[in-house]
Amino acid sequence: MTEQTGAESTYTMGYGDEFLQLLDRRSAQTHAAGLLPHLRPGLRVLDFGCGPGTISLGLAKAVEPGEFHGIDMEESQIAIARAAAEAGGHANATFHVGDVTDTPFEDGYFDVAFCHTVLTHVPDTAAALNEAKRVLKPGGLIFSRELTVSSSFIEPGEDKMRSAWNTFAKLLAGNGGHPEMGKELRSHFLAAGLADVRGIASFDSFGTTEEAGFFCQFVLDWFIAPEIVEVAVKHGLATRAQFDQWRDDLEEWRQTPGCFAALAFGECTGTKV
Ligand SMILES: C[S@@+](CC[C@H](N)C(=O)[O-])C[C@H]1O[C@@H](n2cnc3c(N)ncnc32)[C@H](O)[C@@H]1O
Repeated sequence: MTEQTGAESTYTMGYGDEFLQLLDRRSAQTHAAGLLPHLRPGLRVLDFGCGPGTISLGLAKAVEPGEFHGIDMEESQIAIARAAAEAGGHANATFHVGDVTDTPFEDGYFDVAFCHTVLTHVPDTAAALNEAKRVLKPGGLIFSRELTVSSSFIEPGEDKMRSAWNTFAKLLAGNGGHPEMGKELRSHFLAAGLADVRGIASFDSFGTTEEAGFFCQFVLDWFIAPEIVEVAVKHGLATRAQFDQWRDDLEEWRQTPGCFAALAFGECTGTKV
């Protein structure tokens, strides 16, 4: 994570290995399952805020030989996505470094615009949705899947860990992000003038021993990392003693048979009139 200052444009999650390992567990099949039935060969698709492209490549495959474009503001992520596309032989996939609120594409270029855990982080939701709408053809589809921190859970120990979820939400909001975007998506889609707006809810589950172990290690390595602790303490979002307690509680949670955690998401589809 980069230094949290309350400045409008800081991206909370950063680009460290711990977070990349979480993104590495994503694919179009698991994280864009609601979009895949809308895709067919020949469609032109944009993935805005594509990150390292782990979801992108499955979308590119679904529309082959149609054009697939991914865009992200972070060069290191685009380099990873390009390398993966080349290794996988996805000749229809092109990746660009750029801002999702100001893309290089012509008006009406795409059939589908997709984003996953991006509106959670972009301060100006309307600007991002309006840009996606601009580059869509009339009748084109927008699909987004975004986090809802307050509905995410860790059991047993939810009573002890709720304060940790709240601190994470404050970190996101302090950087101009939207920790409840998943459940707000439908309102934003309607405000953007989209039609046929449909929202659903879903979870990323950590419900096997391996998955729970991964989740625990991710929280320890990313959220309870010294840089995050320092920033959160400096900005009065939590105390060092709280982080120490959460670390102990998590270690205990990991050893508990039946431990189960999940990240909650809202998903929304809409069409450009
Ligand atoms: C949580 S990651 C999600 C990556 C990918 N969509 C996924 O779900 O695996 C969010 C991504 O959005 C990108 N991002 C955030 N704000 C952006 C902006 N204004 N323009 C372009 N990319 C942005 C970040 O660089 C990061 O790669």
